[in-house]
Amino acid sequence: MSPLPPAPAPAQAAVQALWSPGAVQDPYPGYEAVRAWSPGGVLPLPEWNAVFVTGHAANSALLRSPAARSGAWLAGAPETTDAMRLLKPMMLFHDGAGHARLRGLMQAAFTPRVVAEQRELVRALLDELLCALPQDTETDLVAGLAAPLPARVIMHMLGLSGDDEARFLRWTGSVADLLGGADRSPELMGRIEADAREMRAYFRDLANELRASPRPGLLSALAAAEDGGERLSSDELLSNAVLLLAAGHETTSNLIPGGLLELSRQPEAWAALVAQPAHPNVADELLRVVSPVQYDGRTLSGPVTLPGITLPAGLHAQLLLGAANRDPQVFPEPHRIDWERPGSARHLAFAAGAHYCLGASLARLEIRETFAALATRFPALTVTDPNPPFKPNPVLRGVARLKVRLGGAI
Ligand code: HEM
Repeated sequence: MSPLPPAPAPAQAAVQALWSPGAVQDPYPGYEAVRAWSPGGVLPLPEWNAVFVTGHAANSALLRSPAARSGAWLAGAPETTDAMRLLKPMMLFHDGAGHARLRGLMQAAFTPRVVAEQRELVRALLDELLCALPQDTETDLVAGLAAPLPARVIMHMLGLSGDDEARFLRWTGSVADLLGGADRSPELMGRIEADAREMRAYFRDLANELRASPRPGLLSALAAAEDGGERLSSDELLSNAVLLLAAGHETTSNLIPGGLLELSRQPEAWAALVAQPAHPNVADELLRVVSPVQYDGRTLSGPVTLPGITLPAGLHAQLLLGAANRDPQVFPEPHRIDWERPGSARHLAFAAGAHYCLGASLARLEIRETFAALATRFPALTVTDPNPPFKPNPVLRGVARLKVRLGGAI
């Protein structure tokens, strides 16, 4: 196999600029700069033992390749911290048969029927949260709606007590910071470590309790789930419960304000939504333009051949899902929200292949119901801060506060 050519200096600079302060506010010009250096949507950077992938086809192929491994970076890492002990058993970081086993056990407790049963809960929560918001004065839609809604849904599904909501929100924030945050200051790492210790203790105690006396909810089902007589170990159960809590909350919670911000910049799309709030394409088109998970990563355990290039084993692939979802070769006028767009659902916001999001149907349900409720009840909704602050997390990208005026219910 011929060695990969070194990346030209401007291509390296374009990649480095993805991490510049401010890129999280609007990463899309940066992705276009990298795309310009990426024939076939692939930019090899042999100097960094990495490849940056902006193209939809190349991302899709890598996500589906058995040689592209999720857990390689963690496998050899020593378990010297509680944060590491928390991450290692998560199914997100396992591959092959080990991943299939964990996913099979979790899927068994996460059926389409269970998801469909959440519709009335989502509607009731939306009603409660939206009625509590001021109609005529400015309000923060993250604190008032986008943070509590997905948190309460997943807490209810897991069978967790509502009294602990504030603590769960802090914990999911720590997991998000651990997985994708740009801040690695000792203060933040110390807080994450303390939260990881608390999470492990809390869910270990709870799992023991539920094994002894089951009660309604996914956690009891997981505690009892068996695959060929094999159960989740205690560490597997607690880590994957935390994964569900964090994955079920953080991403959907970022999509809601992200989608509204995009709609505020594309008033014709908001008007079309008001005219047809239950349009079947709403969730997928918003997932495509917002991409709450902007980056995914894989390590190649063997060579992977893509059109025009063979990537060698050992390379780390940075998968720019946000760029893939705005690849003009697949999505013409990619920055435009178009409810009538054919093939919106080809987006990679939920990834693809073995790790395709386990909660995709729940997320779609929450997104559909939320935007239908907003467009139906508040057609005059305005975003009053057109440049809101973002959390310092380029991977799990999300607006920190979104000031809106609901404009009075109809
Ligand atoms: C995996 C995105 C909502 C649970 C993933 C992955 C992505 C993703 C990109 C793949 C990660 C990888 O390849 O390494 C999203 C987005 C969501 C969302 C954009 C909402 C807008 C949810 C919800 C739940 C959930 C609501 C659960 C209640 C999971 C789990 C995995 C996962 C358990 C791991 C699957 C595996 O490793 O096999 N999600 N997710 N997600 N998601 Fe989601």
